[in-house]
Parts: sequence; C-alpha cells; structure tokens
Amino acid sequence: MTERFNQAAEGWDKGDMRQNIAHSVFQTISNRISLLNNMSIMDFGAGTGLLSFKIAQLVKEVVGVDLSEKMLEQLEGKNSDTLRVEALCHDICEIPLERKFNGIVSSMAMHHVEDTAGLFKSFHDHLKRDGFIAIADLEAEDGTFHSHGNDGVYHFGFEREPLREIIEQAGFEHVRFHHAYTVEKETQNYPIFLITATKKL
Ligand SMILES: C[S@@+](CC[C@H](N)C(=O)[O-])C[C@H]1O[C@@H](n2cnc3c(N)ncnc32)[C@H](O)[C@@H]1O
Repeated sequence: MTERFNQAAEGWDKGDMRQNIAHSVFQTISNRISLLNNMSIMDFGAGTGLLSFKIAQLVKEVVGVDLSEKMLEQLEGKNSDTLRVEALCHDICEIPLERKFNGIVSSMAMHHVEDTAGLFKSFHDHLKRDGFIAIADLEAEDGTFHSHGNDGVYHFGFEREPLREIIEQAGFEHVRFHHAYTVEKETQNYPIFLITATKKL
C-alpha cells in the first residue's frame, strides 16, 4: 500500500478531483468546528498536505502523519517561512506518539486502514481532554471508486451506522455525519461524508 502512494506522490496534486475534495472537506470542517489559533491538530494520512495546509492557516500547528515517505516529501516541499506543516512518517496504531492533540482531521485515508476500530482507539488515545475528530471518507461504494485498482483499499467506503457504533465504542460522543462532497465520475457518483465527534470524558 505504501508503495502505491510512493509511486503516486509526484503527480498527486495534479487534476481537480483531489483539490476539490480537500477544499470541500476543509469547508465542511470549518463550518462545523471552531478551529482556534492555540490548537494543535493531527492530519491523519496527510499525504501531500492538501488538507493540512488549509487547516494550518487557522491553528497553532498541524502535524501531518503518513506512512508514505514520498507523499510526505511533497508535503515538506510546500513548507515556507510563513506556513508550515510538520511531516511525521509514523504508524500511530502500532506505536503511539508521545504527544496529544486538540483535534484530528483526515481526508480519504480511513479506507486504507484495515482495523477501523483500532484506528479510532488510537485517535482517542492521541486526543487531549475534549478533543475532536473530523474524518472524511467515502460512503459505501461498490469497489469502483479507485480506477487504478484496489490494492491497499481495505474498505469500499463505509456504511454510516456500523461506523457510528465503532466510533462510540472507541470512546467518542456527539457523533454526527455531514455530507462533504460528491465525486462525479462518468458512470456514477461517489458521495463523501465528514464525521465529527468529541472525546467522551
Ligand atoms: C488517498 S490518500 C489521501 C491523502 C490526503 N489526505 C489527500 O486527501 O490528498 C491516503 C493517504 O493515507 C496514507 N495512509 C494509509 N494508511 C496509513 C496509516 N496506517 N497511517 C498513516 N497514513 C496512512 C497513505 O500513505 C496516503 O498518503
């Protein structure tokens, strides 16, 4: 799976689709959550930083966590004196970080992680008291979204109710689904949701 993203890294930002998803996910997050200039945020599966740099304009710091070194190289190439995202090549499900965040955002990475329950437990462990998650991914689809094949795709999107249960079981409350964007392809449309929730005390 990491190899897939290492190979795709250089051309990742080309074309409108990924830019449009990141833009809409960011809009949906910022309409629902107050992003404050004292917040420390993790972008899980940050890739080249399409979402991270939008968030970084509003908060104190963003850490982009990813398993693909090449995707993170692209992210680091966008750093400037005025806007920075920290790149971290790390598997947070295997080895927790020794730091906690006010919030965790993510766009289109969750379907690449096999153990969804383990992922949300890890998110819970990486959040400060009252921390939030804002996670965007595909609604359940028929396996045709990835036109280059499903290598490294563990979930063909997600059914909302089973996912809600997993998230509540992991220790979150106020779990809400919002429509974020619809990818329109020639043969069909693929809606994307944003889930928001807060860490239960
Ligand atoms: C479809 S890309 C999305 C990248 C970016 N969020 C965007 O919207 O352009 C999924 C990303 O998740 C990363 N990823 C997959 N599994 C991961 C894991 N267990 N931990 C961290 N990153 C992971 C991949 O390396 C890849 O960069």
